[in-house]
Amino acid sequence: MPAHLLCFNRACRARFDIAEVLYNCPDCGGLLEAAYDDTPADPETLRRTWRERRLSDAPLCQSGVWRYREMFPFLEDEHHAVTLREGNTPLLDAPLAAGYGGLASITFKHQGFNPTGSFKDNGMTCGVAQARRLGMKRVACVSTGNTSASMAAYASAGGLEPLIFIPHGNISYGKLAQALEYGARTFQVEANFDQILALVRTLAERLGIYLLNSINPFRIEGQKSIVIEMMDQRGWRVPDWIVLPGGNLGNTSAFGKGLREMHSLGLIPHLPRLAVVQAEGSSPFYEYMRANGLTAFHPNEHPETLATAIKIGDPVSWPKAEFEIRESNGVVERVTEQEIADAKAVIGKSGIGCEPASAATLAGIRKLTAAGVIHRDADVVAVLTGNVLKDPDYIFRYHTGQLTAPSGQPISPTYGNQPIVVPNDPARITELIG
Ligand code: F0G
Repeated sequence: MPAHLLCFNRACRARFDIAEVLYNCPDCGGLLEAAYDDTPADPETLRRTWRERRLSDAPLCQSGVWRYREMFPFLEDEHHAVTLREGNTPLLDAPLAAGYGGLASITFKHQGFNPTGSFKDNGMTCGVAQARRLGMKRVACVSTGNTSASMAAYASAGGLEPLIFIPHGNISYGKLAQALEYGARTFQVEANFDQILALVRTLAERLGIYLLNSINPFRIEGQKSIVIEMMDQRGWRVPDWIVLPGGNLGNTSAFGKGLREMHSLGLIPHLPRLAVVQAEGSSPFYEYMRANGLTAFHPNEHPETLATAIKIGDPVSWPKAEFEIRESNGVVERVTEQEIADAKAVIGKSGIGCEPASAATLAGIRKLTAAGVIHRDADVVAVLTGNVLKDPDYIFRYHTGQLTAPSGQPISPTYGNQPIVVPNDPARITELIG
């Protein structure tokens, strides 16, 4: 078994065939991960191969995910892969945002530049490839919006039927619109994300539908490419910190696994520290980690945040995320609705922009530098997970002073930028421009 599924639970470590349809370990119920017996080539050969592929016109070489396929060799036949040329996302410097975050400099890795506008594409291309390899016809996911947009696109591009389940009234129109446009059958369920995930797992089993939530180990394999590409773009120079928002904690798990694997292959000399940031009203992982092993994991039954992408009270991947935070000597922080909104406006004013959940990164960095956890001169990469146009309603409300937190508390437009209604009068407009 060169590639296989492995139980993540350190006390179990049961192995299963890579082509079995499993989401949890049948022996102990633990999470599963993809694992490989064969070590890929030496670091220099890998780096050179990946560089050379940038010059190729072959679709899989142009993909910022499949370019690094030696790091996730789970497919026997590459024809199952479907690419929309995902990945290839830039590293952007942002002096204004750095100052706001209390740093001398900051780099954003902007996953919003992906084909469907979020980091989900990095994982979905792999999840859909595995679905095709298994001969599945229908795929399903529950989503706060981005997973569904991505799954709809990749499944349709790959000739599969996408079935989407979303919390009614709780995802942004931008994301819902994508699912509809990409041709997914879309069910708006009157329940929250965590309840719908339980429902969809039952349906998937009953109807033989392949589940593409981040519990799917192949999505995690694809999301490793975010940190692999990041290191490649940085000439393999390891930053001090990688900061990312935490919802279902799939991305935290993927980053940690990718970094550890790069380290053990000698591609990077040491691990960067991970900092995961949650929204205050939806922060069960923060609370669990803060208790430092003294309490069990308590899901939040009524998660609340305007950053709907991370409105998740019972994140499935928390055991993996805990492991990765400990391995990387990382931290978990949480931020308020006001802090997210202001940080988002600053990222916007930097000319970069992102959706609300992504801005939790900069808000978290501001708190972590103020607390002395992240040093002012640290080399920090913050991952912006979604595109600015994912949630325009939020933006308009913030800038016009109409944004209200789920608690009913108004959010101040600290960096508000009101549109100005003017008469068709050059003199008046000249006067206003000043
Ligand atoms: N940022 C954005 C923009 C997201 O869409 C998500 C998750 C996260 C951060 C959190 O990532 O779950 O790996 O910790 N969105 C999922 C979805 C849950 O359904 O689109 P995570």
